[in-house]
Amino acid sequence: METVVSGIRSTGKLHLGNYYGAIQNFVKMQHEYHCFFFIADYHSLTTHPTPQNLHENVKHVLVEYLAAGIDPEKATIYLQSDVPEVIELYLFLNMNAYLGELERSTSFKDKVRAQPNNVNAGLLTYPVLMAADILIHRATKVPVGKDQEQHLEMARTFGNRFNRMYNVDYFPEPYAFSFSDKLVKVPGLDGKGKMGKSEGEANAVYLSDTPEIIRKKVMRAVSDSGPTEPNQQKPEAIQNLFDLMKIVSSEDTYQHFDQLYNSCQIRYGDFKKQLAEDMIIATQPVRERIQEIASDTNYLHKVATFGAEKARESARKTLTAVREFIGFKRF
Ligand code: ADP
Ligand code: TRP
Repeated sequence: METVVSGIRSTGKLHLGNYYGAIQNFVKMQHEYHCFFFIADYHSLTTHPTPQNLHENVKHVLVEYLAAGIDPEKATIYLQSDVPEVIELYLFLNMNAYLGELERSTSFKDKVRAQPNNVNAGLLTYPVLMAADILIHRATKVPVGKDQEQHLEMARTFGNRFNRMYNVDYFPEPYAFSFSDKLVKVPGLDGKGKMGKSEGEANAVYLSDTPEIIRKKVMRAVSDSGPTEPNQQKPEAIQNLFDLMKIVSSEDTYQHFDQLYNSCQIRYGDFKKQLAEDMIIATQPVRERIQEIASDTNYLHKVATFGAEKARESARKTLTAVREFIGFKRF
């Protein structure tokens, strides 16, 4: 059976981008594959959270994984920081990861632009740690959104380089995976680009947002003064709202508003109201379970402990082989 690995950084609550880009695939894949889903808490350290913040955010992701329907009996759910073998593999891979290729990664370049005062080495080697997360279980499929494609390419490079260096055929090539024919990119509400935690509060709709908050955010989403000619191309902000509708609403609803747009009869108030209601319906089952699971500390402890054991067992096997390939020997 093929092995699947994916993780989400614990930098806040999960939003619709995480849900449609990643988690929905996790939930489906757990029935068909050998799955490892983790909380990337080491990765979140690049932003220097306080100890309290770190723990709170890890809890958000753990709770929301479970609320979304990941079953700890089927998939292994764990904290990255509970599997120190990942760090050892990260160190080994770092020895053959080159400054030039790391500096060329788009996510690194974006971060340098966004936070020029915090360009730390962890940020530079972020894709190496991500490769270690994947290679530690020798996974072949990695459910992620469109923005992670380049990181997957780097993971293949690092795995292949290791194989060549030690003349082994040990690490298989991991590929980004989605059940839909293309990798998903969920747009944000601010009129430009993707939905993300770091793009500001108003841009993202969180799985834990109440219906009132969702309505407020969607009504305030960036739009324009409306089409002036029939069948005119939609500007980015409007296209984004239609893309969101395509994800959460029925095809009929989407077609209805698309026709109104094309005949210049659309009223953005009605359009946004419908979009908000459909988002509320789409997220309702998850939202309802978040509260309940978050208060069950005992259950969370059990899930994390059980997951850590299973993940370490798999990681240890890989590390034993890797150390031997490299030439570490006991005296
Ligand atoms: P964020 O960008 O909000 O910080 P992460 O980078 O931790 O979230 O992403 C975790 C997972 O969610 C990744 O698989 C990523 O591809 C996916 N993801 C995040 N935002 C989006 C989005 N807007 N559209 C599709 N997938 C997304
Ligand atoms: N880089 C991913 C993101 O920002 C999170 C991540 C870390 C990940 N390690 C991973 C995703 C391993 C898949 C597999 O979304």
